[in-house]
Amino acid sequence: MEYHLALIGYPIKHSLSPWIHNTFLNKAGLRGSYELYEFDQLRSFEENVKLLKNKKYDGFNVTVPYKQEIIPYLDEIDPIADKMGAVNTVVNKHGRWVGYNTDGVGYVRSLEAAYPTALSVENCQILLLGAGGAARGIYFALRERGFSRVDIANRTQTSAAAILDLQGEWGDCTVLSIQEAEKALKDYDIVIQTTSVGMRPNSKDSIIQVAHVKEKGIFSDIIYQPLKTNFLSQAEAEGAPIHFGHTMLLYQAQYAFEKWTGERVPLDNMEEELKLILEGR
Ligand code: ATR
Repeated sequence: MEYHLALIGYPIKHSLSPWIHNTFLNKAGLRGSYELYEFDQLRSFEENVKLLKNKKYDGFNVTVPYKQEIIPYLDEIDPIADKMGAVNTVVNKHGRWVGYNTDGVGYVRSLEAAYPTALSVENCQILLLGAGGAARGIYFALRERGFSRVDIANRTQTSAAAILDLQGEWGDCTVLSIQEAEKALKDYDIVIQTTSVGMRPNSKDSIIQVAHVKEKGIFSDIIYQPLKTNFLSQAEAEGAPIHFGHTMLLYQAQYAFEKWTGERVPLDNMEEELKLILEGR
């Protein structure tokens, strides 16, 4: 079959998804295309969705600002995406739209690709910095994998508590202030930065000062512009292993592609290629 795939959102002209998914199609030896389908801002969301239906895509990604808005138009939603309240991947199953969210699993895959034993540390203690949409996906994916201690630090602590509540039970997880987290880095095997602090053009910023870290504790940032954030530079200076955000972009796409085609395409040198693309921007 030939796969007709797309990205919906606004604005999406600079999206890297067409490059990623057209590369996947090539690598998998599948015929098809992945295109940008920018929603017309002069039409209502509902009208845009009607036009989208007519395109009969086999699958599409959903990005900002529509990850929540698309949900009432789905025929079915995966339980994790439902809990997250956000969908980034839709599969057209014989005319029925089924929604998923591939961010959390994508993140976990990217971490394990870089550090295969990262999550097999006994009694692994994980800290998430931030409590937005991205943190939510990562939190659920980690809890799904059986980790009972995934603490969340956020400027607005009620948002962090809301994520723990959504999971149903808190396990051993706690909510921290950013200041508390900064002082407790020694307790954690993995620290994951999910806030927008440090994103270009504010590349000098960091949500915390990184010092007194746990030996072999991994520091991860989901920001990919710049590739190496101030947060990661500080962690590296402390001698910590670091994990880059652009890899999550590739693995969440890999998982979405798998949902559409059943093929798990190996990334090979795409990480390096994406790095070059991002550095050239
Ligand atoms: P995303 O969906 O990409 O995760 P988001 O939902 O806008 O983005 O979440 C942004 C995260 O960055 C939140 O955790 C936010 O903290 P609040 O919940 O307190 O708003 C955090 N964030 C953004 N700017 C921040 C700042 N200047 N200081 C501290 N945290 C900040």
